[in-house]
Amino acid sequence: MSTTQSAAARLPSVFLQLWWVIVVAGLVGGLAAFGYSSTLTPVFHSTASIYFSMRTASSGSDINQGSAYTQNQMLSFAQLATSAAVLDEVRDDLAATRPGLTLTDLRRMTKVEIPQNTVVLEITTASANPEFAAEVGNSIADNLTQAVYTIAPKDDKGESTVVARVIDPAVPATVQSSPNKSQNAVIGVLIGALLAALALSAWALLDTRVRSRNALAEVTDLPVLGAVPRQKGKPSGPVVLTKPNGHGAEAYRQVRSALKFSAVEHRIGAIAVTSSVAGEGKTTTAVNLALAYVESGQRVLLIDADLRRPTVATTLGLENAVGLTSVLVEAVEAEDAIIESAGGLAVLTAGEQAPNPAELLASNRMRLLVDALRPSYDLVVIDTAPVLSVSDATVISQYVDATIAIINTRKTAKTQVERCIAALTGVRANLAGFVLNNVAEARRDRYYYLSDN
Ligand SMILES: Nc1ncnc2c1ncn2[C@@H]1O[C@H](COP(=O)(O)OP(=O)(O)OP(=O)(O)O)[C@@H](O)[C@H]1O
Ligand SMILES: [Mg+2]
Repeated sequence: MSTTQSAAARLPSVFLQLWWVIVVAGLVGGLAAFGYSSTLTPVFHSTASIYFSMRTASSGSDINQGSAYTQNQMLSFAQLATSAAVLDEVRDDLAATRPGLTLTDLRRMTKVEIPQNTVVLEITTASANPEFAAEVGNSIADNLTQAVYTIAPKDDKGESTVVARVIDPAVPATVQSSPNKSQNAVIGVLIGALLAALALSAWALLDTRVRSRNALAEVTDLPVLGAVPRQKGKPSGPVVLTKPNGHGAEAYRQVRSALKFSAVEHRIGAIAVTSSVAGEGKTTTAVNLALAYVESGQRVLLIDADLRRPTVATTLGLENAVGLTSVLVEAVEAEDAIIESAGGLAVLTAGEQAPNPAELLASNRMRLLVDALRPSYDLVVIDTAPVLSVSDATVISQYVDATIAIINTRKTAKTQVERCIAALTGVRANLAGFVLNNVAEARRDRYYYLSDN
């Protein structure tokens, strides 16, 4: 299965879990559109209708001819409605109440339409003031009928042959025609929801992180040994000690149990804990896993072999003056450098910073040290540096019985995990499986323990 295909297959589950994002975005879009519409000046429309007819029509054929003639003239009447001849009169009519009115103002607010196949002209005027809109509409209608009377051809008696009659005067509107707040709100809801759906799809398709068991299954068949929830707040110490009944401690015990099953074929006496990149939770896992083994009555030694960024000592609140580096340069005996820590865990901290950590760890001395310490403990847990940064972890992984790799589900990309697996299997390390770290607590059971499809 290709990554794009599997990402597309993930879409339904993403929508099922994050449907509320679409709902919230829709509500926000609707409210925003409604709020924006409320800030716009309302516009009121008024329409006046004028009917045109021929005066001389008496017989049936005359009427037909007259009607055809007027229909032909309708476009000209429409032009006339917004001509200076009419609008100048309108301006004069309204001069008392609206002295500054220009022809452009009047034209801008006026729309003239002829409903198809009729001899009716509809003059629609728009204004923020409904009374004014109606006033202008009526004035145009009146002055247009006058102008038609003056301009149209006259009959024998000097009467105009075309008669324009106002059949519907403009009345002040009671409801604004724009903005249409409820319609805009519905459009806002649709746009908000659509954008959220598009954003979610893009996010799901472009998300290359290993966020779940299934995402890892796309990369490897190796097992997930446990899923450690994200701890809220500042860490106050290893959760196995500080919150022994919490989900976090339970997750580390689960890793311990899972490793027991992979130890059926051969005894696991030494484990290396590593990950693809920095800050994925190697040290946190190594410390808590070691403590989980201590809890089950085993004698455990934790070695901090991440000589670049050693944090086991600070995590456990220990002194770091003497440690692994001191033993490797043969300044101190291992027995003298090992400290008894909380819960009865034996710890060999990293010791003082060495200028050549890669050489120290690659040297045969490190391997001999681990072999020498094995008989004194049921398990030796070694915290290491990230696989993709330096070679330390790949070297150590060759002489321990099992290596476990941590995946930060909020950060680690599939390609990084692939390269990590390739590096470790390339040196024939026994990669026992993965620990998913930083898993969102709320979704832990539903999303990670079971499945995300
Ligand atoms: N499950 C978790 N919940 C919350 N915070 C966590 C969790 N796991 C690790 N952290 C925090 O993430 C940070 C990095 O963790 P940690 O030092 O264990 O990672 P690391 O892989 O050993 O990093 P480095 O590559 O620097 O050695 C620490 O501040 C740690 O407290
Ligand atoms: Mg670390």
